[in-house]
Amino acid sequence: MLVLGIETSCDETAAALVEVETRRIVSSQVYSQLAEHAPYGGVVPEIASRAHLERLAPLTARTLENAGVPWSAIDAVATTVGPGLTTALAMGSTFGKTLALALNKPFLAVNHIEAHALTPHLTNPELAFPYLLLLVSGGHCQLVWVENVGRYKLLGTTLDDAVGECFDKVGKLLNLPHPAGPALEELAKRGQPGTVTLPSPKHDNTLDFSFSGLKTAVRDHLHGPNPAPAADIAASFQTIVAEALARKTKLALRQTGAQQVVVAGGVAANQTIRAALRQTCAEQGATFTAPPLNLCTDNAVMIAYAGGLRHLAGLENGNLGTPVRPRWPLEMAPPSA
Ligand code: KG4
Ligand code: ZN
Repeated sequence: MLVLGIETSCDETAAALVEVETRRIVSSQVYSQLAEHAPYGGVVPEIASRAHLERLAPLTARTLENAGVPWSAIDAVATTVGPGLTTALAMGSTFGKTLALALNKPFLAVNHIEAHALTPHLTNPELAFPYLLLLVSGGHCQLVWVENVGRYKLLGTTLDDAVGECFDKVGKLLNLPHPAGPALEELAKRGQPGTVTLPSPKHDNTLDFSFSGLKTAVRDHLHGPNPAPAADIAASFQTIVAEALARKTKLALRQTGAQQVVVAGGVAANQTIRAALRQTCAEQGATFTAPPLNLCTDNAVMIAYAGGLRHLAGLENGNLGTPVRPRWPLEMAPPSA
């Protein structure tokens, strides 16, 4: 089954073709709008929507052309309908529905988080259900029990900022360009972890996360009498985040008895965080899987794959009347018309 995936939930415009049963990525294009949002220090929904509108049709056409695939070969059109920015989602959703209608093929409404959750299957065929997913991105910080395609249980989530959001806000305080995650990781390489005293997020017995206190502590430190060099602040901050994520993952492993851990989302690109998680998993006797970096950050391969897997499993997938859903908890079925 050849599925065309469309992703426009935030600031990446993406299209991809995936042969679902064989897990073959036939073609993939991602246009990052970073430069357009950079002057504002964050994603501006209006700018994101306009950029999606301008880029989506040519980008999708190129996705097919590059692979030499005719429009008639597409079996279904999978599109992110949530969660995300309402107007940005509406661009992709309207485009995807129009294509599905024109091609007379099914429109598959995809949950962006579910797509992140299923991506590791694409690249790691040996990964079997169930597994524990740590989703760490600009919008999410969640521990999810992935029982099977379409069967998820949210074990814990952030009570305030998502972890990527925290990297971005702390990076902004350190005058790094948005999104600051990658730049902060680079800066941290020149600093000494542990040299700046910052509070570790609360150690408790829940699987929820909280990062806003850490962000505030960095701000207070910078406004204090004797701020440390930025590289030391970055290194200290990054290590505390990595430890906090590893600690909750360990707790989740113990509570669920999981034997496999998967990390996904943009923050999963961070090597210090990966190393902390890898070590925790090794200590707990669990395997650790992370998708390649280009599939950790937002892309349309994951959307095509998730839509296709649900379709093949005969699960509810929405239809042309499906509205966009800016908030869409993973456990809920696709919204119907
Ligand atoms: O998954 P993603 O591409 O988009 C969302 O769905 O949010 O994640 C983007 C987030 C941003 O907050 C970015 O700063 C963060 O991932 N990020 C990183 C790194 N690379 C991207 N955070 C820490 N270290 C990195 N290397
Ligand atoms: Zn994402």
